[in-house]
Amino acid sequence: MKFMDWLDERLAVRQLVKVMLTEYYVPKNINFLWSFGVLIMLVMAILFVSGIFLLMYYKPDANLAFDSVNKTIMMDVEYGWLFRHTHAVGASIMFLVLFIHMARGIYYGSYKAPREIVWITGYILFILMSATAFTGYLLPWGQMSYWAAQTITTLFEKIPFIGPDLVIWIRGNYIVEDATLTRFFALHVMLLPLLLAIFTAIHLYAVRIVGSNNEDGGELTKEDKKKGKGISFWPVFMAKEFFVMSVFLVFFFYLVFYQYKFAMDQINFIPADYLQTPHHIYPEWYFLAFYEVLRGFFFSQNLGLIAFLFSMFIVAFLPWLDTSPIKSGKHRPLYRIMFWIFVADFLFLTILGKLPATGLYAWLGFVGSIVFFIFFLALPIISRIEKKRLAGGM
Ligand code: HEM
Repeated sequence: MKFMDWLDERLAVRQLVKVMLTEYYVPKNINFLWSFGVLIMLVMAILFVSGIFLLMYYKPDANLAFDSVNKTIMMDVEYGWLFRHTHAVGASIMFLVLFIHMARGIYYGSYKAPREIVWITGYILFILMSATAFTGYLLPWGQMSYWAAQTITTLFEKIPFIGPDLVIWIRGNYIVEDATLTRFFALHVMLLPLLLAIFTAIHLYAVRIVGSNNEDGGELTKEDKKKGKGISFWPVFMAKEFFVMSVFLVFFFYLVFYQYKFAMDQINFIPADYLQTPHHIYPEWYFLAFYEVLRGFFFSQNLGLIAFLFSMFIVAFLPWLDTSPIKSGKHRPLYRIMFWIFVADFLFLTILGKLPATGLYAWLGFVGSIVFFIFFLALPIISRIEKKRLAGGM
């Protein structure tokens, strides 16, 4: 204990433990969906550990990268295949838990005051995670890695004035090549994980300050907490979290051992060839919906790009688009309908994203993209209707 006293005097660790764990109270009426934040952190830890082992054998060189992954790691290194499968499945599952975490926040109105900073830092984490996945996808230097990077970086060319120079700056050359690989490598293994760690800490701290939302949207007051109306995060709530994590890990490692192929595109087992474009280029499943929005406006590339950027950024503005005084979707019938249409549309766009954007599919993509935006643009209107109803005007 003397050591703890010594440390406490210098770093106030006891105070930190109180704020973050023992004296942090969560409401009683939260369901298992509130465990997804912790699940994201678990997957992040799995990705960090498996990533470090891959890093020991990976060669960030366009002539060596493909073999270092597909021969050295997969065949020569003991359990190299396990780390690679874990990392690839981990990246896919990360987005699954991230989407569920975001959808939970949207359904229960967790973006509303006083949680705007929680929402914005979460949104920054989503962008950082997307950049991490995108840069990491180039590293195996397979055909799909190469052409996905080539296609997406080409999009930046459309940015007025700076576009063409920006693309060369990102690629380090006129096309994706060795310089692009080393840039993406540096971002994937250094800068982005560092930023992810920093923003996760800020996100968690912000959750601790404002407290967790709940199914009904009411807030716990300080008095409520004193009267024991909340559950202490440590050890009571964490016991539930450990159960959820255990079940999740069984599911996760079932995928790693038996179903890993879903996370590894077969075309990526062909080495990158800048002279041969694959017949059909598409990103990993978690970017398909956004990719479909990009293709949805097939009659104008510029419009497609604007819509794509809009689809990625509009989520950040939810706290200001939705001005209804009611927080939880549980008590908002109109909002609930819109929410489920939005979820169905997101899945629809994800399916379409892998199909060729021709004929009927192209038109369906256009309709799906419009529906995607209707959810966000309808929010101010729904909010106004709800406000009128509350005031007894309807
Ligand atoms: C690396 C990514 C992320 C990590 C590690 C993370 C972690 C967490 C954790 C541990 C919690 C508390 C437990 C819980 O409520 O689930 C939380 C809450 C929250 N997160 Fe995240 N999160 C991430 C990304 C996001 C994203 C992308 C968003 C939305 C854009 C978001 C929005 C929220 C909100 C609104 C809450 C409060 C929820 C409530 O109280 O109802 N987070 N997050």
